[in-house]
Amino acid sequence: MENFTFHNPTRIHFGRGQIAAIGGELPATARVLLLAGGGSIIQNGVYDQVKKALGVRATFEFFGVEANPDFDTLIQAVELARREKADWVLAVGGGSVLDGAKFVAAAVPYAGDPWEVLTKGGAGVKSALALGAVLTLPATGSEANSFAVISRRALKEKLAFGHPLLFPRFSVLDPETTFSLPPRQVANGIGDAFCHVIEQYLTFPANAAVQDRFAESVLRVLIDVGQTTLANPTDYSARANLVLAATWALNGTIGMGVPQDWASHMIGHELTALHGIDHARTLAVVLPSLLQVRRNAKRAKLLQYAERIWDIRGGSEDARIDSAIAKTRAFYESIGIRTRLADYNVIAATTAPEVARRLEARGMVKLGERGEITPAVVEAILRLAA
Ligand code: NZQ
Ligand code: ZN
Repeated sequence: MENFTFHNPTRIHFGRGQIAAIGGELPATARVLLLAGGGSIIQNGVYDQVKKALGVRATFEFFGVEANPDFDTLIQAVELARREKADWVLAVGGGSVLDGAKFVAAAVPYAGDPWEVLTKGGAGVKSALALGAVLTLPATGSEANSFAVISRRALKEKLAFGHPLLFPRFSVLDPETTFSLPPRQVANGIGDAFCHVIEQYLTFPANAAVQDRFAESVLRVLIDVGQTTLANPTDYSARANLVLAATWALNGTIGMGVPQDWASHMIGHELTALHGIDHARTLAVVLPSLLQVRRNAKRAKLLQYAERIWDIRGGSEDARIDSAIAKTRAFYESIGIRTRLADYNVIAATTAPEVARRLEARGMVKLGERGEITPAVVEAILRLAA
């Protein structure tokens, strides 16, 4: 295991009724930009709870942050925050709203062109507004990490950035706020969190027993609760465990000092930028093929994954690996997420080289835990995902 510094300053308020905790988190004098999506928070009562908790604080509302939050929309929120001299951003919604809030928090005090915040991956950020979140969709881990992914449809771009100043100061996770999610979004959340764990775990052995066992427990919980929470959306226990699993999948814990392989995400972001496919669905397409193409480099961990996650013990090493990859694909399909490019009307023969070229243009020519995922390998992965 490599040396590491673990730092996660986000305070989590977990459980029923916890939106009220906002009252104790925000200073009475806070000037709050309330950022939200298309209106789900009005319909499910979250908005009323948030307003009650905010009380008489000066609040400026910005609705309309879309799934895969768009730069051009968020710029309007930046202008509102500047005009009203907001000093807090309160994100109320899913990962897209939370990511959008991180961008706004960084862009408001940014001196140059706000697009640079993204093109420099967050490296130009010097200060940020304070950030709080009420999460209504378990998936991204954005509620307890310092990363965000922003799209710019006008340029067909989707870029990730991060900065330590962008950890939410606090996040409220009330599982009941997620009961109103449509099954498609619940499945997306399960699939996204699953892939987050895999990308920090399924690399090569690093003698990181704590992180391995932690990763394995989160994977098993996701498998255990996935079907239950889809079938019974108001089963509090199942949903609460999904919410907790999704947060811990990407709050830094599993990734402490271990090799990581974010290639599925990097390839997936290009698929969303080009074809508008939901984030989690891009991962379901890429991951099984990536594991297949990279099976030798990942051999030891694939065998561990086969045994500890899918209870596969008999047969040759290769047969066990085949079976583990097949189980991974079947898991996504079992929660209603299709795993082939053709399922999304995407033609692999044209998209595979295009994605490879786009990543190359970004300098992403050595992805994966060993830097071996070159543009040619990206192309092979996507051709296999046809
Ligand atoms: O806009 P509203 O009306 O709120 O509807 C949303 C949206 O249509 C709806 N929704 C959210 N909570 C709901 C609800 N509907 C009913 N009841 C509720 N309680 O769900 C739809 C999708 O929401 P979205 O926020 O887009 O989903 P998700 O949380 O999956 O976020 C996806 C975005 O996060 C990025 C992705 O790339 C994508 O842009 N990611 C962010 C990461 C991070 N910050 O660390 C890491 C991830 O890997 C990911 O890349
Ligand atoms: Zn993700």
